[in-house]
Amino acid sequence: MKLSLMDEKAGKGTLQQLVYDTVAKGIATGEWRESDKLPSVRVMAERLKVHRLTVLKAYQQLLEDGIVEVKYKSGYFVASMAGGDVSADSLASSPPWEYQARSLYVNRSRLSDIHRHQVDYQMSEALIDPALLPNAFLSNHVKQVFDMYPKVLSTYSSVSGDLELREEMARYFMEKQGIAVHPEELLITTGSQQAIDLISRSLVKSGDAVLIERPTYSPAIDVFVQQNVNLLPIEITPQGYDLEHIEYMMRTEKPKLFYMNPTFQNPTGYTVPATQRKALVELAERYECILVEDEVYHDIYFGDPPPLPFFYYDTEGYVIHIRSFSKYVAPGLRISVLAARPELMKVIVPVKALSDNGTPLLTQKIFQHYFFSSRLQEHVAKLRIALELRKARMENLLAATDWSWSSPGGGLNLWIRLPETINVDALLQQCLAESVAFVPGRICDPLDRMESWIRLSYSYLSEVQLEEGIRRLVEISDRVKQD
Ligand SMILES: Cc1ncc(COP(=O)(O)O)c(C=O)c1O
Repeated sequence: MKLSLMDEKAGKGTLQQLVYDTVAKGIATGEWRESDKLPSVRVMAERLKVHRLTVLKAYQQLLEDGIVEVKYKSGYFVASMAGGDVSADSLASSPPWEYQARSLYVNRSRLSDIHRHQVDYQMSEALIDPALLPNAFLSNHVKQVFDMYPKVLSTYSSVSGDLELREEMARYFMEKQGIAVHPEELLITTGSQQAIDLISRSLVKSGDAVLIERPTYSPAIDVFVQQNVNLLPIEITPQGYDLEHIEYMMRTEKPKLFYMNPTFQNPTGYTVPATQRKALVELAERYECILVEDEVYHDIYFGDPPPLPFFYYDTEGYVIHIRSFSKYVAPGLRISVLAARPELMKVIVPVKALSDNGTPLLTQKIFQHYFFSSRLQEHVAKLRIALELRKARMENLLAATDWSWSSPGGGLNLWIRLPETINVDALLQQCLAESVAFVPGRICDPLDRMESWIRLSYSYLSEVQLEEGIRRLVEISDRVKQD
């Protein structure tokens, strides 16, 4: 969407331009958000003291430019995903409210733009069905934590996180994976999302080259775009990466870091094999490129457990390991741990201090006592089975279509290629209108292409809801199909 299209078509200064700019500015400043209804033609005409026909013409121009949508008998609405392709050029030539537009279009998470839509069939959010989490146990457990630490709400955690939790976590890394890490090399963050953001703000600056998987976790793209880095895509396939290409990129582009999600990757579900992990750590050391491994799905596997993390192979301090527990322990607690050697930790911790001065102590304590309990281990084992069943259910429901995907060995998502006759943007708009949500592949692509792909999460809906959600999705895709 270009907010300045009207200038070219109708010339500056016309009344029609005034209406057009009022709406564009209202969208940029958040007066009207995606899918909000605009004032009726009559109300807008009264507000701006112009003729109704002038408003109608401006609305039609906005419609043509993809900024608004019209709904039969309901009026004009702000287009879904409006602003998705605002270019740097269009921002550069913007009116004085440029900084507001920037804040709306550059500082944004395109994934949460989709999640904002309240729908009945939620397949866009990689979250686990709350019915699969031990909620009653957790609430009793919270009471016990208050008994154990009566002053827990009366004080702060340290910036790096509660020491007891970091000590237990260091023991866990050693016992589970043979990774030797000191509690001082651990930072508790408020979700992995915060960890990615802290890294982007502490380790790269505008113009730096940064390698990123293609496709990848969409908010990570948004975070790095915000830092104005030069994002260089690295394809990920069911076999992992092309290491020769990575070496070429490291040699020629000298990237500062490589953001990876190498285990049951979001969105593809692919896993980078152990041999590549070891070799890539050696490349990172040779070319002085920091590897950021974001391990959100490490424990959500259906067959064999995944290979050891990159961090295991790191001897020179080039790997940052981010481990989120938010998916399967208790998403509401938002607890993650970032592991890095002291040289890197030294620059990341001050940014955490600026950001929030430390993750809340209460959530850390609840997490600590629950995570290291035998109850959690039983819960994860059962959860893996339940999630594998949901994956199988979704795959069965999709079996009759001509869509294609590679069945993941873990994680929460299917990464699906649709026939080119289906326009994914049109599909998404119609799905949202009919209470179904999914993630369009384009927002997972640092090159903003992959138009024929979608990500469907099988973990949030019950098996019964999955059936109806997929039925609607397939039925709508038939309707929007073009010959
Ligand atoms: C790859 C990846 N990284 C980070 C996150 C964010 O995790 P958290 O909930 O811990 O912030 C997600 C969540 O979907 C994810 O898939």
